[in-house]
Amino acid sequence: MSTESVADRVSDPATDPAQEAMPAQTLDVAAERARTPGATESHHLNAAGAALPTAAVVDAVVGHLRLEERDGGYEAAAAVADRVDAVYDGIADLVGGRASEIALFDTATTGLRVLVDALVSGGSVRLLVSRSAYVSHALHLMTHARRTGAELEILPLDPATGAVDLGALETTLRAGGPAIVFVAHLPTSSGLVEPVTEIGALARRHGARFVVDATQSVGHLAVDVGAIGCDVLVTTGRKFLRAPRGTAFAWVHPDVLPVLEPTAPDVRGAAWTADREWTLAATARRFETWEHSVACRLGLGVAVRETTERGIDATAAHLVSLGASLREQLRERAGVTVRDPASSASGMVTFTVDGVDPAEVKIRLAAARVRVVTVPASHGRWDLGARGVPAVVRASVHVYNDAADVDALLTVVDAITREAR
Ligand SMILES: Cc1ncc(COP(=O)(O)O)c(C=O)c1O
Repeated sequence: MSTESVADRVSDPATDPAQEAMPAQTLDVAAERARTPGATESHHLNAAGAALPTAAVVDAVVGHLRLEERDGGYEAAAAVADRVDAVYDGIADLVGGRASEIALFDTATTGLRVLVDALVSGGSVRLLVSRSAYVSHALHLMTHARRTGAELEILPLDPATGAVDLGALETTLRAGGPAIVFVAHLPTSSGLVEPVTEIGALARRHGARFVVDATQSVGHLAVDVGAIGCDVLVTTGRKFLRAPRGTAFAWVHPDVLPVLEPTAPDVRGAAWTADREWTLAATARRFETWEHSVACRLGLGVAVRETTERGIDATAAHLVSLGASLREQLRERAGVTVRDPASSASGMVTFTVDGVDPAEVKIRLAAARVRVVTVPASHGRWDLGARGVPAVVRASVHVYNDAADVDALLTVVDAITREAR
């Protein structure tokens, strides 16, 4: 294994001539809509739930299922082995790691569970977790704390930003003892963007491990594991990557990988070598399971390639500006409360309509073919629960959305507020 650090692999635009020469990418929304069949069916503002895939992603999945129908699942898998290997390369390219550092999963929750179990199995460790933690991840960490007696600390917020308080984190880290910091880059419950690069620097300075839940950020904002300085990063496929449901991946730092043992090794990543002996794969494949959907992984590969080709900077610029436009226009409306904290430069927008149940707002929007979701406090107790907000309406944009989708949502919200007056 190379001794080059992940940070060394991050190219510096100031000194990298290849990057210097690269023209700024712009997003062609019309072209994105043209290759997304669902874009004309509704005003789909639910990328943070499950985004609309392109036709090419769906073709890759269906094509492989047809191959399985004809040749059988194992035979079809053998026929596309090179294409599956290329999925790891594409992901490594996207997040700045190497293919050997990537493990594929069915959900982000599975990836987090497998890696957190491996990380915390080595003894007593402090679990320091952001308020932005997703429900399933929080439940898992709380279960660990209850079973093992490990200390679970919920990190305080900076009231000015609504994100992790970096000063308080530093004080906590200074208190000493082995620690793991868990942060959701973007939560499920608002448009908040956590300062993961700054958190990564603090974790490194104090010798703590850093696990990033990037479920809502990969494919949405630029995510580079070297720049963040994390040990583990996990994301899902179906959200901003626009991959099929049932896909996810993790990146594991090459220095951490050899010492992380899965608590339940699987034949995919382990070899049973003698009566009571086994060896683990040297790569992140040690965390995977044998059984998986090859079709969905091929779809994930196409989605990742399309994400890279589209250009993450152009994508992020579009999502953040469309999100800001929606947020601002909602803010201007009497009877509407935007629920996003100050640090919400993202394409996710949360709001409530005064006196109207968020579930009712969602139904009214759906009747006009505007697709959003409601997020209940039970999906983010440490965030919505702590803020005393029982539920929010969440709208989230992607590259196939434009001002017409935003207008469609605002038209319905205006009708609701008129009636509520
Ligand atoms: C921030 C965050 N983390 C984790 C998850 C869980 O992802 P998955 O459903 O792929 O397990 C979600 C799902 O919405 C999420 O929003």
